Amino acid sequence: MKHVAVPVADQAAIAEAAAVLEEGGLVAFPTETVYGLGADAENPDAVARIYEAKGRPHDHPVIVHVAPGADLDYWTTDVPRQARQLVQAFWPGPLTLILKRHPQIPDAVSAGQDTVGIRCPSHPVAVALLQAFKGGKGGVAAPSANKFGNVSPTTARHVRDEFGLDAHDDGDLNGEDACSAAPLSVVLEGGSSEVGIESTIVDMSRLATHGPVLLRPGHISAQQIADVIGMTPAAPDQAAPRASGTLESHYAPRTPVTMLDAAALRTTLGDLHLKGVKVALITHTLPPLVSAQRRLPDAPAGYAYGLYAALRDMDQTGSDLILVETPPPDDAWLGVNDRLRRSVFGSAGVIDAMLQK
Ligand code: TXA
Ligand code: MG
Repeated sequence: MKHVAVPVADQAAIAEAAAVLEEGGLVAFPTETVYGLGADAENPDAVARIYEAKGRPHDHPVIVHVAPGADLDYWTTDVPRQARQLVQAFWPGPLTLILKRHPQIPDAVSAGQDTVGIRCPSHPVAVALLQAFKGGKGGVAAPSANKFGNVSPTTARHVRDEFGLDAHDDGDLNGEDACSAAPLSVVLEGGSSEVGIESTIVDMSRLATHGPVLLRPGHISAQQIADVIGMTPAAPDQAAPRASGTLESHYAPRTPVTMLDAAALRTTLGDLHLKGVKVALITHTLPPLVSAQRRLPDAPAGYAYGLYAALRDMDQTGSDLILVETPPPDDAWLGVNDRLRRSVFGSAGVIDAMLQK
């Protein structure tokens, strides 16, 4: 899955970031899925700062990130055997488990719910940070490092853009100090996130009554989970705990986004051109058609890797509309299609409106 050799933060930057976390501050750090905005999970004031920085509603729980080998029983309780099997199979890696929260863990991280989302990321910088923080015994609460509802960041540059942090020295790829008024002071560098979309979330907290529930599809598929525990995670029902990623509108650029299949896209592009509408394209089979176009790989892992950067870049082109060539409906594309569906939310009818002008 390795796409590029990446520059990474050095030990001094990691030690500084761990100290900032221990003092209750915020640190943005790379993971293999997307960049996270981290705080000490056991410090409710620090966790509150995440919500403030993101503009995130207070009823949306955050995921606790732990170091490899962390004690699951410190954070959670009533852990079913199948959850331990998933930890064994997929950690460190892009899988978040929802489990019953241990009573000693502040409810700030789970927005008052009796469960907690927990994951052990595999990105070497995230691992180094988690090992340095509280000697590897702490947990870092971290949502994606974007303003609520925006596209998740997959590079340190995206994080700085998102929070308006000035990079004082572009050449320095280690932790960078930003102006003191900013909500976070450290952004650790870790290159482009390898997976590119957020972790798979599986709710294992009500296994006996509900079985495993897939709250958010991702790189680790329902089939891979079923292969390990012998139970296929079901899609969430109305009663499942709310995941903010399940809100209809999410991962959305400012420019309206619409999906069309290749044939409809070509025709519509011609019609829009005649009306003087400036269109940016994200495609995976079509040849270059307009100047603002990003061609992503015609394979789900490579597509996911490039998707958020493509949405951000096309959002910067000053176009009136971003048209996305609809990816295949196959299971392997579930995570990609889920994120795209949310980024087009609210854009229904936008093409008709532009053609009628
Ligand atoms: O890949 C990822 O998971 C990234 C990186 C930084 O680790 N994090 C991430 O966090 O995507 P965030 O906050 O953007 O999305 C976490 C999702 C939210 O939809 C939240 O509602 C859900 O996980 N979640 C967290 N704790 C939960 C809980 N106890 N029960 C149900 N859903 C939970
Ligand atoms: Mg998010």
